Amino acid sequence: MTDLLLAGIDPGWSKADPASLLEDWRERLSRLEPLDAEVAAATATHGEVIAGAGDPAALTLAHAAALGRERGALTRALGELPNLPLERRKTRGRALNEAKRLLSDLEAAKRLALERAAENRAGLDVTIPGRRPWVGRRHVLGQIFDELLDLFHGLGYSVYTSPEIEHDEYNFGKLNFPPDHPARDAHDTYFVSDQILLRTHTSPGWVRAMEERRPPLRLVFPGRVYRAEQVDASHMDQFHQIDGLYVDRDVSMADLKSTLNTFARSLYGGSVRTRLVPIYFPFVEPGAQMDVSCVICGGSGRLEREGRRRCSVCKGSGWLEVLGAGLVHPNVFRAVGYDPEQWTGFAFGMGIERIAMLRYGIPEIRLFLENDVRFLRQF
Ligand code: PHE
Repeated sequence: MTDLLLAGIDPGWSKADPASLLEDWRERLSRLEPLDAEVAAATATHGEVIAGAGDPAALTLAHAAALGRERGALTRALGELPNLPLERRKTRGRALNEAKRLLSDLEAAKRLALERAAENRAGLDVTIPGRRPWVGRRHVLGQIFDELLDLFHGLGYSVYTSPEIEHDEYNFGKLNFPPDHPARDAHDTYFVSDQILLRTHTSPGWVRAMEERRPPLRLVFPGRVYRAEQVDASHMDQFHQIDGLYVDRDVSMADLKSTLNTFARSLYGGSVRTRLVPIYFPFVEPGAQMDVSCVICGGSGRLEREGRRRCSVCKGSGWLEVLGAGLVHPNVFRAVGYDPEQWTGFAFGMGIERIAMLRYGIPEIRLFLENDVRFLRQF
């Protein structure tokens, strides 16, 4: 079984300790021979010098002689490739790449061995700090999710997750988007087939939760959503949202407002001001967007310290749109079999990337998905 699992894997990789390559490199070399004897011979010579280097400086020289960007023998041979006939070019190219990999692995193994030897010569020094293992961390978006889930948990909400691949009916129909309504145009949709799509928002979760459960409900719906956007610094075709849904008797806009204010102060700070501006969403009535006073200029629209220049984050308006909200539309209740004469509710939804970008001044939405640790470890 182990043989089967390791078939095709370079033996240099199957050992946890790279130092073992110092013994195995000739075996790897022997596999190079049938491919290109000349390259194998040169690799043997350079390999000997690398493996025999007496100290780190000699090792650096030996490495440069083989693989240096300008004068390295293998680097130059790679440069000669275009002058060879096609068949030779193919095998030589493969052989040179294999040789390059072999010699760099060998160099790394040798360097480690030299460092260890130096440490051994110095004797055991228990005062040297330990080697700190590399420890990862939560993704910045995961941190924001955690914070929001914590906050809403405190307000009595539980988490409901629903599929990223969704029926048209759940993403649109039961949320009161009529079949050819222009409101669908605001959601550039990736269709998988005629009736199946990648959800464009986390709101379809409400429908699934309400079809499954009886009121009262207090739920949040975190997750990834997709829109067929032209990608640029502020648009991605996948991003994250969290929706909230509260269903009970006699729920009013006042309940919605107090919940959203609690949320905004917890996330953006106690002194933040908020306002609700009427706006249309098919699944709420009345519908609103909530704005918070700009976290960069404090709501003045001007940057005091920079000669009262216009604030570029809120474009001088002093306000930032942070979420959509409203009272659940009676048609949505009808679609899930709740009696709209008995039940009332509010809902809200917001983008996670936007929260992180505002809080940390991140200028580029694509950074979230690139998984570059130099970016990620800053949060
Ligand atoms: N689902 C809406 C969107 O993605 C946001 C929203 C949620 C608006 C809840 C109102 C109420 O655009």
